[in-house]
Formats: sequence, C-alpha cells, structure tokens
Amino acid sequence: MPSLTDLELKARFPHDFVWGVATSAFQIEGANTADGRGPSIWDTFCAKPGVIADGTDGSRACEHYQRWQADLDLIAKLGVNTYRFSVAWPRVQPLGSGAWNSKGLDFYERLVDGMLARGLAPYLTLNHWDLPQALQDQGGWANRDICHRFVEYALGMHQRLGDRVASIATHNEPWVMAILGYENGIFAPGIKERGIAMQAAHHLLLSHGMAVRALREVGCKAELGIVLNLSPIHAATDSAADLAKARLDDGRLVRWFMDPLYKASYPQDILDHLGADAPPVQDGDMDIIATPIDFMGINYYSRTVVRAEGSYDVHSSGLEVTEMDWEVYPQGLTELLVRLHQDYPVPSLLITENGGAFKDPMVNGQVHDADRVRYLQTHIEAVHHAMQQGVPLKGYMVWSLMDNFEWASGYAKRFGIVYVDYETQQRTLKDSAKWYRDFLAGQAQAQRAA
Ligand code: FCB
Repeated sequence: MPSLTDLELKARFPHDFVWGVATSAFQIEGANTADGRGPSIWDTFCAKPGVIADGTDGSRACEHYQRWQADLDLIAKLGVNTYRFSVAWPRVQPLGSGAWNSKGLDFYERLVDGMLARGLAPYLTLNHWDLPQALQDQGGWANRDICHRFVEYALGMHQRLGDRVASIATHNEPWVMAILGYENGIFAPGIKERGIAMQAAHHLLLSHGMAVRALREVGCKAELGIVLNLSPIHAATDSAADLAKARLDDGRLVRWFMDPLYKASYPQDILDHLGADAPPVQDGDMDIIATPIDFMGINYYSRTVVRAEGSYDVHSSGLEVTEMDWEVYPQGLTELLVRLHQDYPVPSLLITENGGAFKDPMVNGQVHDADRVRYLQTHIEAVHHAMQQGVPLKGYMVWSLMDNFEWASGYAKRFGIVYVDYETQQRTLKDSAKWYRDFLAGQAQAQRAA
C-alpha cells in the first residue's frame, strides 16, 4: 500500500514535472492501408499463423487514425501536460527511403497541432517497432545501411515537426526489437539468430547516435534521447550459478545499452560471452553512440528474477502478479533508478512507460480497476523515493492512455486507463483514469472522501 496520501504525494513533485500518458502508432492507429501507408514488419508478422495469441492484427486497433481528435480531447481532460506518441515510419515514408507520403505527414502535423492547441507537450518517438517492410526485405536492423535510412527519416520528421515537438526519442526499447525480434523470434520480424540480433542491437544504437548528431546539426530545438526497457535482475537464490546468471542477464539487458551510451564501450564480460555472435564494430562507432543526449527514457514494468537452470515461477513470491504474469514490484523502480544514477552520468531521466494489464471487467458501464490504481500509486511513490535519493527524474508517463493492440498478446491484455470496446470503439474512463485525473488535479483525497 502507498504510505502517503495522494495529495501528499502529488505535492512532493515539482510544478514543472512532466506528467503524461503514452501510446504507440501501430498499437492504436489502425488504418494500415489508408492514404498511402506502406506495410510494416508488424503487418507482415501478424499475418503469420500462430504468432499473435488471439490471431488478431493492427488493421483496426483503436481507429485512432480516424478518432484522433476525440482521443486528444480525452487526454487533455485527464489533466496531463504531455502526450508521448510515435510516428509510423511506413505512414510517412512507405518504403523507408526515398518518397515521402504527404497524407501521412499531414496526419502527424494535425496531431501535433492538436496537442499544442490543447496544451499538451508533444513527445515524439521515431521508432516504436513498426519498421517499413521494404527495409526488412534488405535485412532490417541487421543491415548496417539502415542507419543512413533512419537518419533520413529523422531529418524528414524534423523538417516537418521539429519546430513544434518538445522531445524526440529515437528508438523505443532496442533490447525488445533486437532480442525478441531477431533472437527469440516472438516479435516481428520473427528471426531466431543471436548473431543477427546483436548486429541489430548495434545498428539500433549506432543509428540513434547518428540521428542525434544529424538533428543537432540542423539546429533541432527538441530534447533528444532514447527509451530503454530496463529492470533490476534478481537471482532466485544465492547460489553462485544463479548469481552469475543474474549478472549475465543484467549485462545483456542493462549494461549492453547503458555502457555504450554513457561509456562508449560494450561490457567486456558480455562480449566474451557472445564470442562469435558479438557484432562487428567499426572505428568511430562507439563515439557516435555515446553522443551526449538530453534525456534517458525508462520503461519499467517489473523486476526480472532468474535461475541458472529452468525458469522462475512468478507465483512463488506471493507478490501480486499482473495479467502478463509480471510481478507487481514498485521498489524495483526505485532500485533501478538509484543504480542508474550511481553507475552512469545521466543528467535527466524520464519514466516513459509504466503500467499494468489487469482483468478489467466492464460492469454496468464501469471498470473498477482498483489493482491498477494501486499499481500507479505505488510506482509514482517509488519514483518519488528515487528523487529523494538524488535521481534527476523529470517525468512520468502511464502506459497506456487506452487499451490497445498488445503485440504478440493481441487485444486480450488491457493496459489502458481508458477502456476500449473494440466493437463500438467506445472509450470509457476506468477508475484508474479518474484516479490519475484527480491525483494530477490535487483533488484525489477530496474526491475519495466525498
Ligand atoms: C513495452 C512497449 C509498449 C507496450 C508495453 C506493455 O515493452 O514499449 O509498446 O507494449 O510494453
């Protein structure tokens, strides 16, 4: 349970703190053949039998492409000051290089202007996984040439929107794209080869650094950064083997990305572990990757517990577990943030995603998601604890504004604070959305007492 009242907690955050909600293009837009949008790797992946748990795809999703104005109204009514969204690269540049699609660019221009008109700071993510299929046909992130395509895309978006967005994140969760997409194969593009995955990871980092440099050269005013999915890795027992596994997994998840970004090198123990699967690195790559950035975005959902042999049973700890089978572990967020602050010179951190999938039954037009309210309260408090320990935390964004296409889980897992009826496309505020709204307004206690 949270130890502070909502009112006390809210009052401890600075007035200029970034409070937001987050979404991504593929998960909400639908309309994936409309107005000249090209196919993305997620369209291709969804069409393969058996890869999406409920056999669905992103063709309709939340129909945000049509309903964006009402969705922005909804966001504004929550009282957040920020909206984190992503641009679908294949909507603006269908083949991932060359010709631009003016209708796609117009859509994002209207969307960004709509945010500004409602007092929402636009936080743009360039790559939230929906790579143009045409680039995957040339090897995707495993082909070094993609770095130049990504810079071209970043500059094109800057030309159109750079004067109006507050922040640009290059990539969302390179670990997920590289490891789940190219090593485990459970996400698009569905490849299962560790060596290819590590090349993809390297090119994601390299293209990030190249894009940051290119954007700075053209005078970009937006804050520039990257978003990583990080968590503390705990060993299930104190055995030497479990501890070694935890160190290894920390190396692959946390240090593999943080070390190059802040120390211009890959961790030696992981290079040794990878052996021939380590990526080829050219002279100058590491300095490019370590180009200083304005912020580091962290997506946090849970801790990770590992065993050397077999897997850890999340139900063994007695902790609450979400519908994704992720433990509810808010103290892990404080632990992670304090550790990042100690180990790396990060001047500004943002929680760019945090939230949970819960059962969410709709009863008489209401969703009483007390579990999600508790999740948000305890995690916001965990953020505050990290700030008390000196972590330069600047913002917090809930994943997600509304229920949406949860990748390989399809529509069955609901992360929204707003409920979406996928038949009627009706949006309904869950209790958690009302709670967040009242919390942000500093009214939570009054509301509850009423
Ligand atoms: C993150 C993704 C986001 C969403 C949440 C639940 O890994 O960035 O799109 O799917 O998980």
